[in-house]
Amino acid sequence: MLNFNYSIPTNIYFGKGKMDNLPKLIKQYGSKILMTYGGGSIKSNGIYDKVVNLLKENNIEYFELGGVDPNPRVTTVREGIKICKENNVDFILALGGGSVIDCSKTIAAGCYYDGDPWDFFIGKARIKNALPLGTVVTLAATGSEMNGNAVISNVDTEEKLLTYGEALKPKFSILDPVNTFTVPKTQTAAGTADIMSHIFEQYFSTTEGAYIQDRMAEALLKTCIKYGPIAINDPENYEARANLMWVSTLALNNLLTYGKVTDWATHGMEHELSAIYDITHGVGLAILTPNWMTYVLDDSTLDKFVEYGVNVWDIDKTQEKITIARDAIKRTKEFFISLGIPSTLTEVGIGEDKLKEMAAKATKRGPQGNFKKLYEEDVLKIYLSSLK
Ligand code: NZQ
Ligand code: ZN
Repeated sequence: MLNFNYSIPTNIYFGKGKMDNLPKLIKQYGSKILMTYGGGSIKSNGIYDKVVNLLKENNIEYFELGGVDPNPRVTTVREGIKICKENNVDFILALGGGSVIDCSKTIAAGCYYDGDPWDFFIGKARIKNALPLGTVVTLAATGSEMNGNAVISNVDTEEKLLTYGEALKPKFSILDPVNTFTVPKTQTAAGTADIMSHIFEQYFSTTEGAYIQDRMAEALLKTCIKYGPIAINDPENYEARANLMWVSTLALNNLLTYGKVTDWATHGMEHELSAIYDITHGVGLAILTPNWMTYVLDDSTLDKFVEYGVNVWDIDKTQEKITIARDAIKRTKEFFISLGIPSTLTEVGIGEDKLKEMAAKATKRGPQGNFKKLYEEDVLKIYLSSLK
């Protein structure tokens, strides 16, 4: 039975040239900002210069924190909090993909907390307040620009964990598809897989009667299937980049979640991979997803896979249900391979040695997933089936 409260407060500025709104938007929230970015892509593609010029022209004082890693580290978060506290920073501007945005969100929360920011991830502290934050998105994947999640890695403990806070939702996000023209093929592919996985995590659900959410989810999946390959082969295709950018935001801003029991087992399993092996999140998801699907397919889940196969992949619905379901899984796997993403753990350098340890860690706080609950031995079987 659908029953929920709706709140998606982030203001979105979508389209070519929307960056010009930046000074006006920043001034609504602060006067001294911390600008965060990654390893240098924004310097080579001109986004950095554009933003700096806008800040200077408008006399907005700024500090910088560059070098945020993909799979962002808690050590960088600590560095950012220090800069903010020492300089009375009152606004954070994240220029980048999910890693930069998540790191910035955690810095924003850490400014209102006296303890260590890792506490937010291990359940020792809850996020109550955060500095206001805005984003300029440069990669379509995580949806972090319109949600309250942050995912951070701790290299010392080999953990990659998620925290959540209403206060982490960005005040505004600027989504100019042109800013994603320079995203390399591999990251475009990984981003597409990540977006699809977010949709799967919400689509494969035991909640009945969420008709509207499910039809929206199918439309979003079809968007990824249509535009992922176009963006990879023709990186400056505005239509493809625009559709991927908007689908990534809509896929994880709670729109599909409202009223539903969601799964998130594949993400839980993937975070163990990228925590230890530092692989690209979307690549890990593309490898695990078809194996997760195969593992959870049984009499109780069959109808959902049939719905997926018929509505998303246009598989002939007059066939046997099990044939449709297996074909849908096969097409999912083939699609990821067609994007150039590896399909086995072995290909990304992950062997059998740590699988048991990762399965134990993935289920340390309880079973993974809701569509089908997965215990340690189930997770291990999925990892093993993903090796080759
Ligand atoms: O660091 P730079 O030099 O900027 O290069 C980045 C990085 O190497 C590059 N890139 C980004 N924009 C570019 C570009 N290269 C050329 N042109 C551009 N316009 O892409 C690489 C990957 O960036 P990253 O931010 O790591 O990618 P993504 O957006 O996929 O974020 C992944 C992180 O987000 C977490 C993941 O676990 C991972 O840590 N997630 C966050 C979620 C959330 N907050 O809701 C949910 C997701 O499920 C996910 O867990
Ligand atoms: Zn994800």
